[in-house]
Amino acid sequence: MTSPFREVLERTLTHALTYLEHLHDTPVGPTASLAELRQRLGGRLPQAGIEAAQVIDELVADAAGGIVGSASGRFFGWVIGGSLPAALAADWLTAAWDQNAARYTGGAAVAVIEEVCGVWLKEILGLPAAASFALVTGSQMAHVTCLAAARQALLARRGWDAERDGLTGAPRFRVLTSAQHHGSLERAIRLLGFGTRSLLELPADEQGRLLPTALSQALAEQPDSPTIVVLQAGDLNIGAFDPFAELIPLAHRFNAWVHIDGAFGLWAQASPSYRHLLAGVDQADSWVTDGHKWLNTPYDCGYAFVADADAHRSAMAQQASYVVHTEGVRDPSDWNPEWSRRGRGVATYAALRQLGRDGVADLVDRCCRHARTLVTRIGRLPGAEVVWEPQINQGLVRFLDGRPDATETQHDLRTDAVIAGIAATGEAFFSGTTWRGRRCMRVSVCNWQTSEHDVARAVAAVANVLEQG
Ligand SMILES: Cc1ncc(COP(=O)(O)O)c(C=O)c1O
Repeated sequence: MTSPFREVLERTLTHALTYLEHLHDTPVGPTASLAELRQRLGGRLPQAGIEAAQVIDELVADAAGGIVGSASGRFFGWVIGGSLPAALAADWLTAAWDQNAARYTGGAAVAVIEEVCGVWLKEILGLPAAASFALVTGSQMAHVTCLAAARQALLARRGWDAERDGLTGAPRFRVLTSAQHHGSLERAIRLLGFGTRSLLELPADEQGRLLPTALSQALAEQPDSPTIVVLQAGDLNIGAFDPFAELIPLAHRFNAWVHIDGAFGLWAQASPSYRHLLAGVDQADSWVTDGHKWLNTPYDCGYAFVADADAHRSAMAQQASYVVHTEGVRDPSDWNPEWSRRGRGVATYAALRQLGRDGVADLVDRCCRHARTLVTRIGRLPGAEVVWEPQINQGLVRFLDGRPDATETQHDLRTDAVIAGIAATGEAFFSGTTWRGRRCMRVSVCNWQTSEHDVARAVAAVANVLEQG
């Protein structure tokens, strides 16, 4: 009997290889318009079905020009990694195995794989071995998971059962952080019922580091409120690291919970050259990072870690009469904010096995080196200016309006025009940001494939756009 899978999966392999092997000669940005994509992919819900292989062939044809080349080594927008070959292949297998990784009974091997990932991740990220963990969709849900544990623990200390009684009538939370925090923190705060009014932005120094005096003052203002301090291990614009060794003990003196947003920056721990930036980070109460950024797994790989495993489990575990418990195993759904879920540890496991400790360190070092080269070489081009030289893999440049009396607004407009001009060449892709009131181009290197050649091509593309005026 012929397998109903063979033809469609073999064609899919060919399509995937054609895509991946032509990344070097494909425009990095999309080339199809929104109208074209809607016209090709849309239409009425079909009444009758078609063959699986035809679905895939037509999907590939209709999506053509609409796939952003973020898998390419010439993509420097936001903080977006590619996918390592083993991680991509493991992700395919995850779909083929189709395990429900909520509990050990729904996917024994994938539950064990997650267990192993938790141990390995804590080791490479320098986190306490006893911390509990959850493999979630991304840092967004990792924030929710960690801060749900914080809510549980901080209210329990005040004799309040958050899980049973909710927040109505509970003491009001405060969330102290710097202005550099990522928007996903605010959404987590909204989802958890703290409300964005609980968020207090504190000043940072020139290097983007939260000022200890500002934190100390804010903590002292309301010493009895349940307080969460969110520190940054690599902010999105300049990769700033808060001074953990100083701030964490300070926050703990006021019984605050310290949460670390290390969506990409926590990976600096893997490199002996950058580890010093994270000194003292292991003393925090919870941490988040992503595999789908710097580890280069496919999407759906975020990680939450909590020092107080009991608080974590109390915030997440949910029993039901039909759920089978197996003695001595780790059931992911006791730690995760989902019920049914994919075996997302498999891709992480494969990435860590493909790279090993040395490979992750090398990946971090390489990306940082390429980011520095890009920023310094672009910064030397006529009409360009370095705004932030990378400390890790994030830097900023801007482009100046050539008129002698040009205003800041005109420099901002010129910067946005150059960013759009570079994207239009298809040679490289950078994203923009507003940093300290000025428009800048972010230079973010996060892809395992980025090479010296990619860097040279990207610099040449920027030079061409600048020459065209
Ligand atoms: C510093 C920081 N924190 C949190 C996030 C949110 O991560 P995710 O998109 O995986 O939810 C991002 C990036 O998107 C980030 O750069």
